[in-house]
Amino acid sequence: MQIGSLFVPNRVVLAPMAGVTDRPFRQLCRRLGAGLAVSEMVASDPRLRTTRKTLQRIDHCGEPAPRSVQIAGADPVHLADAARFNVAHGADIIDINMGCPAKKVCNVAAGSALLSDEPLVGRILERVVAAVEVPVTLKIRTGPSPDRRNAVRIARIAESAGVAAVAVHGRTRKCAFRGPVEYDSIRAVKRAISIPVIANGDIASPEQARHVLAATGADAVMVGRAAQGNPWLPGAIAAHLQSGKQVEPPDELERAEVLLGHLRALHAFYGEAVGVRVARKHLSWYCKASPNGEQFWRGVNRVECAQRQLALTREFFHRAFDEAPMRLAA
Ligand SMILES: Cc1cc2nc3c(=O)[nH]c(=O)nc-3n(C[C@H](O)[C@H](O)[C@H](O)COP(=O)(O)O)c2cc1C
Repeated sequence: MQIGSLFVPNRVVLAPMAGVTDRPFRQLCRRLGAGLAVSEMVASDPRLRTTRKTLQRIDHCGEPAPRSVQIAGADPVHLADAARFNVAHGADIIDINMGCPAKKVCNVAAGSALLSDEPLVGRILERVVAAVEVPVTLKIRTGPSPDRRNAVRIARIAESAGVAAVAVHGRTRKCAFRGPVEYDSIRAVKRAISIPVIANGDIASPEQARHVLAATGADAVMVGRAAQGNPWLPGAIAAHLQSGKQVEPPDELERAEVLLGHLRALHAFYGEAVGVRVARKHLSWYCKASPNGEQFWRGVNRVECAQRQLALTREFFHRAFDEAPMRLAA
């Protein structure tokens, strides 16, 4: 897929998820085959630029290009400044958040709340596109509410402003995460504009991704919650879309090795105290479907020490490790 002047190696994008798509998770998903991984949103308010959260979110050390960084806010001048600031810190693509329904974001009239003000959307996009040399992308929902769906108008505003691609979560702001994803609305956006359209919402398997691409005509899919605890999913979808073949899920040994690597990366990125805490939710997602996963998680959830968290995780997967030498010998 081509986003402006940039080549994205396949048609699968990891969705921006605050609290989830930090640098370690993005690097992991890219290594396992995601074409692009969008950062957690970075606040555009200049007063928040030196908070620990922002400093961690603008850290792209070792992350492969193209690096897509999402910015959030409602003030065109702040957003344009934030775009410049993030490009200076390594962003290859600036993504603008007009899709997030979180109260914290919408209370300051940012995220999907912006969809209610089309003239402001136009001003923001023009300012941000003019501020940076890199491609600017936009993430939206299908409108503020089911009786005010305006994704097609917003997408046209975006294209006229010079935006390079639009990702559409096929629900309105009011619908939050409820109800079916509106493939018709995504298809209408695709038909209305000629820049790439990325379809998003409830995509949880390679087959479903193929179905969504066929139903919407979109250029790519964006995967969010289904990648939590399953960093293999974007890569598996990309492989399936390329080959048409079924992709084997990772075996226990690979699951264990990837999870242990992910934990170590979180400990290194956040430091031990915070890293161990951030790792807990990932541990629960990785293990929720495993037999005894619940019991393991209840124990590991109380641990404060990085070495202990790693040791308990290794123990949980002990069978995979015990059997590994036999498999290698066979
Ligand atoms: C924990 C969480 C955090 C999210 N944070 C953001 C965000 O920072 N910016 C954004 O545009 N969307 C955010 N979203 C929305 C996702 O990017 C995505 O649009 C949504 O989850 C639908 O895709 P899915 O059904 O594949 O999860 C978030 C979603 C979740 C679950």
